[in-house]
Amino acid sequence: MAVRMITVSLPRIGTDRAWRDAARTHLGRGTRPEALLWQAGAPAQTDLFGAPDMPAPGTAHALTVPRAFLDLARTVVWHADPERFARLYAFLWRLAERPALIRDTADPGLVRLRQMEKNVRRCAHKMKAFVRFRDIAPGSTGRRRFAAWFEPTHHTLEPTAPFFARRFADMDWIIATPDITARHENGTLTFGPGAQKPDLPQDAAEELWGTYFCNIFNPARVKVSAMTSEMPRKYWHNLPEARHIPGLIAGAEARVREMAARAPTLPPVRAARIAERLAGTGVDRVMDFEALHRRAAEENREVPDGYGRIVLGEGPGDAPLMIVGEQPGDAEDRAGRPFVGPSGQLLDREAAAAGLDRSAAYVTNAVKRFKFVQRGKRRLHQPPDRTEIEHGRWWLDHEIALVRPRLILAMGGTAAESLTGSRTGLLKRRGRIEETDRGPVFLTVHPSYILRLPDPARKKDETERFREDLAEVARTLA
Ligand code: URA
Repeated sequence: MAVRMITVSLPRIGTDRAWRDAARTHLGRGTRPEALLWQAGAPAQTDLFGAPDMPAPGTAHALTVPRAFLDLARTVVWHADPERFARLYAFLWRLAERPALIRDTADPGLVRLRQMEKNVRRCAHKMKAFVRFRDIAPGSTGRRRFAAWFEPTHHTLEPTAPFFARRFADMDWIIATPDITARHENGTLTFGPGAQKPDLPQDAAEELWGTYFCNIFNPARVKVSAMTSEMPRKYWHNLPEARHIPGLIAGAEARVREMAARAPTLPPVRAARIAERLAGTGVDRVMDFEALHRRAAEENREVPDGYGRIVLGEGPGDAPLMIVGEQPGDAEDRAGRPFVGPSGQLLDREAAAAGLDRSAAYVTNAVKRFKFVQRGKRRLHQPPDRTEIEHGRWWLDHEIALVRPRLILAMGGTAAESLTGSRTGLLKRRGRIEETDRGPVFLTVHPSYILRLPDPARKKDETERFREDLAEVARTLA
């Protein structure tokens, strides 16, 4: 039987409340997800329901929805994905039948929504950091007025504008985006349609930003990729201070030499501060991790020939840093824990020397099973192939969604491939951050690469470089 489609048109302003009301109504009526066609961008007053008197085509659902879902939906509705409303409703539909789903971190629908939530949060963070107001002529109120132009990736102006209203409560201001405009006048915040980029005047505040940026710029810590991860290039053309960046980078090397000559003893690594920041208990995430571990235990009832059991990561459930290796080795498979063998010992030693506390990071692998060939009593490591990396990514993505690290350290080609899509040129890419769907990923070599080097001098050099990479990770987190 053909499904009768119902169109739900959501207004561009107030989308979050409109989606929630529409979803609640349709869930109450038992409208199945596949019968709904969600449309965004309708004028604010549009009737929310194309066919309000439709008979209920399915079984009406109870309307108690977990708070965690409401919080999730409140953020995800601002994502740029046109499918966001449908994805939310499809998940809500299943959630109404199985409330525990909101904690099922292995559920692909939930994983995708958590990723979208993270994208929107990140976008809002960028907006708070990079909106730059310029002084414009006073309006009818006689108060000073400011205007800013911004191009967010997601629809984040509406949820973020209250932050600016609190921060700049006594100013009149406008933030325009191609999507919508936020206006703050006499303490009242309103929203209107989007705009084209206006010709905003340069003003004194612009010079101030430039001077401020040049002063805080530390040439000894220039990592262009890390900088572009925190301040992506796409924002540069609207940032007055960004025009100083190329010059500062070009002069950085000379300034470092100058600084080194002036201050031969640089301050020690801020180990204590990093450890304090990294410390986390993860207690509130225990249930979610339990679900993941239960699933791994189920799969481990049968272990395929030539493979070990699934070994999941370990560490605080809210660690800001996730360390990703290749696959468990023989020792890890026996212990059921990652990085406890020779590679793990090298990692521990160098991390400690670099001011990184391994116990405060979540340590895991791109592939979850040890792959080996049996030679007598020995099990010899075999590198994972593409399919195994794909399979491992399912687990890894769940771990990332749960831990939500601020930074991921990928060690070796397999981790690089799993997290960035490519392992090519790792030795050239190492020591830098790459921006990925899974967040910022810092690349370095695998400890086993160092362990296998036959030449002692090279081994020593590579160990030092590895330690320097770990120290850079510590500095990035600090
Ligand atoms: N090598 C890895 O990549 N992971 C481990 O857990 C151990 C060795």
